[in-house]
Amino acid sequence: MKRDPSPLDTDTLYLGAPDVARIVARKGLPACLAGVADRIHADFLRWHEFDKTPRVANHSADGVIELMPVSDASWYSFKYVNGHPKNTQRGVSTVMAFGVLADVATGAPRLLAELTLPTAIRTAAMSALAARTLARKDSRVMALIGNGAQAEFQAIAFRDLVGIRTLRVHDVDARASAKLVRNLQGQGLEIVVCASTAEAVRGADIVTTITADKQLATIITPEMVEPGMHFNGVGGDCPGKTELHADVLRAASVFVEFEPQTRIEGDLQQMPADFEVTELWRVLSGQTAGRTSDAQVTVFDSVGFAIEDYAALHFLHDMARELGIGDVIQLVPQMNDPKDLFATIGATADLQRAPARSSIATISA
Ligand SMILES: NC(=O)c1ccc[n+]([C@@H]2O[C@H](COP(=O)([O-])OP(=O)(O)OC[C@H]3O[C@@H](n4cnc5c(N)ncnc54)[C@H](O)[C@@H]3O)[C@@H](O)[C@H]2O)c1
Repeated sequence: MKRDPSPLDTDTLYLGAPDVARIVARKGLPACLAGVADRIHADFLRWHEFDKTPRVANHSADGVIELMPVSDASWYSFKYVNGHPKNTQRGVSTVMAFGVLADVATGAPRLLAELTLPTAIRTAAMSALAARTLARKDSRVMALIGNGAQAEFQAIAFRDLVGIRTLRVHDVDARASAKLVRNLQGQGLEIVVCASTAEAVRGADIVTTITADKQLATIITPEMVEPGMHFNGVGGDCPGKTELHADVLRAASVFVEFEPQTRIEGDLQQMPADFEVTELWRVLSGQTAGRTSDAQVTVFDSVGFAIEDYAALHFLHDMARELGIGDVIQLVPQMNDPKDLFATIGATADLQRAPARSSIATISA
């Protein structure tokens, strides 16, 4: 996709779920994970070029629906995403998403895309990018707690981008772990199914928590922490929803995506406002040290930030163009005279005055 579309061009590329799945199948998941990780990395390095804001969240008893906007001088993007942990009990995904890429110069929407699958990819890419930066370089064993929709993506990203060779997996739902084992057969990963989180975490170099439960959970407790571990806390991502005990954070150096958002949503929500954290972009850009010793415990308190979706949307758009996938739709009207919106309703429009109140009463009587 060219990055400077004609200002008069209001065509929108539409990528539905089958289109996005075809893109991932044609390119291959490892290439998509690596491609999105590269873009996130590049975009995090130009952190100050983005107009950033914590996402807007609407909470209900069973879940949350969020809007995640961000923009730079050329592009605006937003993602719509939900989180409803009980959904799977009724056959619906916990997380579903779609998003838009719009031209800042005109405001025209240029891409409308399903983002459920890309969310799993960008989350795994982000997690692996953080771990590649923060975990011990000799990390080969990862505990993976929560084996639902996101889990396999995390496994492949950590295999390819971090060098993980053994997974110690646990889920309160044994069928979820069995599904993960099935899906990852023949992928060069040794997988050990564990009866508890404590058993899975024991001896691991990296611990990924990616559970879904709308409560202040403590999946990881202080006695599970071993020197040198890196924690990738992904499922504690909204107010009232955590995975790491506060003492785990106290025992560690904590890294975040966008601090104002993570203070509201991350495991960090349990900590006082002055609890010290470091935004990951500072480490990626070499401004701040990440891990400073092999014994240090590091935590990436992931919540998912809009720049990651901006990167994923650009990746999708480029791949769709390259592979000739997707449909060009008229999401917004295209007009010969942009001041003549009225003409779009055409000659067939019924311009009769609405019936007077008395005649409505007569008709319905
Ligand atoms: N940080 C981010 O960027 C980001 C992005 C996407 C999803 N998420 C979060 O990741 C989590 C997982 O998402 P998903 O799509 O895989 O959900 P999912 O519902 O498909 O899977 C979650 C799994 O966690 C398991 N689980 C729940 N409580 C557990 C516990 N105490 N111990 C072990 N396992 C437990 C469930 O049985 C389920 O199999 C959600 O909380 C979601 O909000 C975060």
